[in-house]
Amino acid sequence: MQQEIFGGNSDFGIRQSQSYDGVYLKIRTSDSIASITAYIPGKPQEELERELGISGSIKLASNENPWGPSPRAVRAIRSKLLNIHRYPDGSCFYLVDALSKKLGVDPSEVILGNGSSEIVDFLVKAFVQEGDEVITSHPSFLMYQKFVQVRGGINFIVPLRDMRHDLVVIKEMISDKTKIIFLDNPNNPTGTIIRPVDLYQFLSDIPETVIVVIDEAYIDFADKQQRVDVYSLIRNISERCPVVFLRTFSKAYGLAGLRIGYALMARGIAASLHKVRQPFNINLMAQVGALAALDDEEYYERTLSRTQEGLEFLSREVEVLGCKSYPSQANFVLVDVLGNADQLYNAMLQQGVIVRSMSTYGFDSCIRVTVGTEEENKRFLRSLADCLSTLKYV
Ligand SMILES: Cc1ncc(COP(=O)(O)O)c(C=O)c1O
Repeated sequence: MQQEIFGGNSDFGIRQSQSYDGVYLKIRTSDSIASITAYIPGKPQEELERELGISGSIKLASNENPWGPSPRAVRAIRSKLLNIHRYPDGSCFYLVDALSKKLGVDPSEVILGNGSSEIVDFLVKAFVQEGDEVITSHPSFLMYQKFVQVRGGINFIVPLRDMRHDLVVIKEMISDKTKIIFLDNPNNPTGTIIRPVDLYQFLSDIPETVIVVIDEAYIDFADKQQRVDVYSLIRNISERCPVVFLRTFSKAYGLAGLRIGYALMARGIAASLHKVRQPFNINLMAQVGALAALDDEEYYERTLSRTQEGLEFLSREVEVLGCKSYPSQANFVLVDVLGNADQLYNAMLQQGVIVRSMSTYGFDSCIRVTVGTEEENKRFLRSLADCLSTLKYV
């Protein structure tokens, strides 16, 4: 990407670059970066409570694990605290080894990232050049489009059909400039999953020059019979498009704050991603925490069963309150509140219940609620009932 550098003083009429709060910089970013809206992080929960004059708020907005990390992960991290003056192992030897054994793949087919989001960045850096095309669905996880914009690539955005990826239209959008197709499966924010038979069919029709990235951030929560055979899909690519699977420790493993995710892919693709990553992208705590969490199967299974119970409870009870819930294969549920979601979000916020309004995703009457602990789910429902009746939505 080009960067134009301007000399001189803007006061004398020389071309100016972007202005930030009235300050003109004499260096400018590429147009594609200038067109990006920066991510606006939410306020820290403590700060929000201080502003609202409340305490004990609950956050059901980011699809995190409400029961916290595995105690084994916490112990492993504690045991390494005195090692943080050293750089971490740049190859993540033990974690890659454990993942490859658990998943039955070769270590050369595993890539780790500072969150799976970082691997999206690697993929785009390695395979998308200015003017190349990338296909994503709308709504879906927003980071795909952002990294493509950074590279000066072109996003082709296909609306969901009946809350699902529209595989027919996605296929039609492919051109000889298409480099990547991103599919979050299950989809965020709808929680829908592609039927394996449809996914296999779709993949068999995609040109060998296009990488299909299947983002399985929420696959742990999905029905087992809805999962596809990762092993055969990353391997047999001589006559089919390459497929990359993204996974994360941020959801079922409860390690969102550590920032660690991984991806499985053909070793040729992995080799390209190693070229674009920085040598120590996975910090020491993330390496040891993820390794211990991976080993704690009992905790993982318990998270899955509790999430399933919570999901069924929430989905049923919001309907009792007169809302519509969409079936979900993830750890969150999309709820149509049959009124303005932003207003409802704000009303619930005042009561210390933080959910996500889906208006930014184009669903003006929907909120997305992460499954919380039993107590949090009940509190959410009490607040929802109260706000629905105050706002006269039901
Ligand atoms: C579909 C999807 N993919 C990826 C991520 C990000 O995962 P990570 O925390 O590993 O970067 C999210 C986070 O919410 C997500 O919803």
